[in-house]
Amino acid sequence: MDDKTQKLNLKREVGLVGAVSLIGGTMIGSGIFMSPQTVLSTIGSSGASLVVWASCGLLATLVSFCYAELGTVIKESGGEYIYILRTSGPLFAFVLIFTSVLFVRPAGVAGIALSFAQYAVAPFYLDCPPPVLVVKCVAAAAIVVLATVNCLNVRFAMSVQVFFMVAKVLALAVIIIGGVVILVRGHTGNFQNSFENTNLGINPIGIAFYQGLWSYDGWNNLNYVTEELKRPEVNLPRAIIIAISLVTGLYLLVNVSYLTVMTPRELMTSSAVAVTWGNKVLGSWGWVMSVAAALSAFGSLNGTFFSGGRVCFVAAREGHMPDILAMAHVHRLTPSPALIFTAVVSLVVLIPGDFQSIVNFFSFTAWFFYAITLSGLLYLKIRKPELPRPYKVPIILPVLVLLAAIFLVLAPIVDDPQIEYLYVTLFMFSGAIIYVPFIHYKIFPHLLTKLTVFLQLFLEVAPADKNL
Ligand code: ARG
Repeated sequence: MDDKTQKLNLKREVGLVGAVSLIGGTMIGSGIFMSPQTVLSTIGSSGASLVVWASCGLLATLVSFCYAELGTVIKESGGEYIYILRTSGPLFAFVLIFTSVLFVRPAGVAGIALSFAQYAVAPFYLDCPPPVLVVKCVAAAAIVVLATVNCLNVRFAMSVQVFFMVAKVLALAVIIIGGVVILVRGHTGNFQNSFENTNLGINPIGIAFYQGLWSYDGWNNLNYVTEELKRPEVNLPRAIIIAISLVTGLYLLVNVSYLTVMTPRELMTSSAVAVTWGNKVLGSWGWVMSVAAALSAFGSLNGTFFSGGRVCFVAAREGHMPDILAMAHVHRLTPSPALIFTAVVSLVVLIPGDFQSIVNFFSFTAWFFYAITLSGLLYLKIRKPELPRPYKVPIILPVLVLLAAIFLVLAPIVDDPQIEYLYVTLFMFSGAIIYVPFIHYKIFPHLLTKLTVFLQLFLEVAPADKNL
């Protein structure tokens, strides 16, 4: 069959609206419905918690400006993987992709799916917490459904993304309007002495940021699919700016609304903050909020799949992942093997994982790699000033964000070392050990050939080409 040798291209199908939804729709997901209580209880006061949410928004904005420059200088898909590969070399890039494919991405998928499941089953368990097994089964079902949708059609996956983006912006708008109405009626008691009891320890600040930054994570989502974006040099920076300012504004106002309606104590003890908010403001219509929170996580999960599958696809193209993962379906043109692989690993992570710890380890690892990526940007700015740059940030920006990233990665470890962070670090370094024999020296070049051929025929996929 000449299908096997014919090269395929992923199409440039993503326009500005799709791009904004791809970023915004992934950012708004589980976090704004799960993390406010954790941020508040770690940082101790409502005033400081708003400061944390605002600072996380600022940090996400600044770092994504840096990524906008990276994405317009290095025009390939693949996000930090490709940026690290082009600036720090294959070893670091492999460590990133190894950690990302086997831990960060699946952890992200599992975390969001868990939050989806928690809110989806909440209306059926009014007086008691839902059984863990039920939550995990629902989460697994969501993963399978979305992996299938993404395998079937790029355009359909994009419509799912836009639809859920609109739905969740409306849900957040309801929370904001409800809060404003109550605030305007003079219900400002919860904001008096709002900095009392603030916890200024390094560890609480770090953990509060981990939780807040989880809610903002996804700001880099468009950088994974640059090759599928129409006019990336214009649309990438534009979509980033629109989406992130929108999300930061929404998050801040939603938090003000939570804090207006609930006392700090009520907020901290609530297991599903949107449901508590709904019960207090909407009364018997409170369940609407749990539906909205579930939909929000579902959309975010879709966006995570859309880009997650593609990272492994790009890495396979570079020879850092098995070949089969670089192939696309011959008719549908979706990178289905990479999507299926991401789904399977996510299901494995789902079995032992719980939401809070997934979020903390996710943020720790993700910011470790953001730091390496930012050093790459500094390298390009200093050593390759001649490269064409349709979009440029002042050098002070990556320097500041890099310092913040280093603080975020080191703070929780230095202040309160936990053995789990050591495990995560060892896992990352085990990538380097695998790199030397298998990738650099290719000691078993035909290890996967038979499996590749079998899967290629079974899944009807063929190698896809770069799209620059
Ligand atoms: N911000 C999302 C949420 O609140 C989590 C995003 C996870 N990361 C990602 N790249 N998809 O649920």
